[in-house]
Amino acid sequence: MYLSSAIDIYDPSDRFNVRSVYIETYGCQMNLADTELLFGHLGRHGYRRTDDPAGADVILLNTCAIREHAEERVVGRLGDLVRHKTRRPDVQIGLAGCMAQHLRDTLLEQLPFVDFVVGPDAYRRLPELLGGAGDPFVDVRLDRDETYADIIPQREHGVRAWVTIMRGCDKFCTFCVVPYVRGRERSVPAAAILDQVRQLAADGYREVVYLGQTVNAYRDGDVDFAQLLRRTDAVDGIARIRFTSPHPSDMSEQVIGAMASCPKVCPQVHLPVQSGSDRVLARMERGYTVTEYLDLVGQLRRAIPGIALSTDVIVGFPGEEESDFQATCTLMQTVGYDNAFMFKYSARSHTKAFKWQETVSEEEKGRRLQTIIALQERRAADVNRALVGTAAEVLVEGPARRREGWMAGKTPHFKTAVFPANGARPGDVMPVRITDATAHTLVGVAQDGLVPG
Ligand code: 5AD
Ligand code: SF4
Repeated sequence: MYLSSAIDIYDPSDRFNVRSVYIETYGCQMNLADTELLFGHLGRHGYRRTDDPAGADVILLNTCAIREHAEERVVGRLGDLVRHKTRRPDVQIGLAGCMAQHLRDTLLEQLPFVDFVVGPDAYRRLPELLGGAGDPFVDVRLDRDETYADIIPQREHGVRAWVTIMRGCDKFCTFCVVPYVRGRERSVPAAAILDQVRQLAADGYREVVYLGQTVNAYRDGDVDFAQLLRRTDAVDGIARIRFTSPHPSDMSEQVIGAMASCPKVCPQVHLPVQSGSDRVLARMERGYTVTEYLDLVGQLRRAIPGIALSTDVIVGFPGEEESDFQATCTLMQTVGYDNAFMFKYSARSHTKAFKWQETVSEEEKGRRLQTIIALQERRAADVNRALVGTAAEVLVEGPARRREGWMAGKTPHFKTAVFPANGARPGDVMPVRITDATAHTLVGVAQDGLVPG
């Protein structure tokens, strides 16, 4: 296990120095994993995690910048949280993450009660900065080498652990702010990742999810993503391996081969397509055509029969005509996704597309979005209903939310399944016969053959 330098580590006997930190997370899984990293790092420097902002010494919002709405939510929430500072002026309120990086030049002016702003590559210095003279500070330097490989995240307990294996993105899709706020692509050393996975197995986690903005672009020397999957598959104690989000252009034969031949790698992949029109894909600079994407889907389905596919789709990109939108509907029907995340285009400063005239009205974007949401709901319900009567191995996560005495977990295809508990505990792999299904949940009964966790 990699450890950070011992020099400035918190001495637990120094209990009067314990300060508490409250973190709220917005956006994607990468941000949730970064929050665990922040808790881990701050924890080693004398900060105790709290879930109550009313008692916290430091209030931190780990933010997202992917769409304007994400930033508006954070500004609204800050307005709420500022009352803690009115009552207790020593409280430090700050922003971390992508929005902090995105709006770095204006945030302190715009929101004068904010004490600090730290970008995604500046977390290492946070304890030192927080312990300073109390003046507001901004640290938004991007560092093309920072991977935080030596910092041990403080994870939520559970059966699934998120492991960030690469940071940043070099793709520069014309709509996307990520390369500007998370910086250049870089990979965590394979040895550090595998150490972490072995430790996770020892700590009782059953599933690891590898994270990265373009996770399958992973490379550490000779170890590419396919190699990493194979090495992870060999770690005892881990039952399942997933990853998100791969980029279609990096989905090599080697990666597909590793997915097909590693028993622990789940038959499920999130493959963001963004649009079903070649004209729009070219303007988005996604690096593939519809034919190439469908080819890839074909390869995946041949190599891993029954693989579950999900995607991201944007409607209303500048220049998207009705015919382009129809092409997106056609592609969604052709592929038949198990799940899709669908968004209205949101112009982001710094990106190439930001300078382009928007051509689709908000109202029309809304109509297009509703159309594909309805299409996808019908499709997801059909896919799930076709599973009634089959059996699936459910990795049990905990009690079902809406049914007393029932448990919930995920199938290998990443579908939520609920079933009467019947003695099953979190971490068990339970064979479940599916008796009913909605677009988002499978309902079933446990069968004999429990594999205890
Ligand atoms: N507007 C709308 N959606 C966006 N995404 C990324 N940038 C934008 C934007 N400017 C979506 C993409 C991506 C997902 C994480 O968010 O679909 O895959
Ligand atoms: Fe954004 Fe494209 Fe990079 Fe994904 S691949 S993070 S959409 S720039």
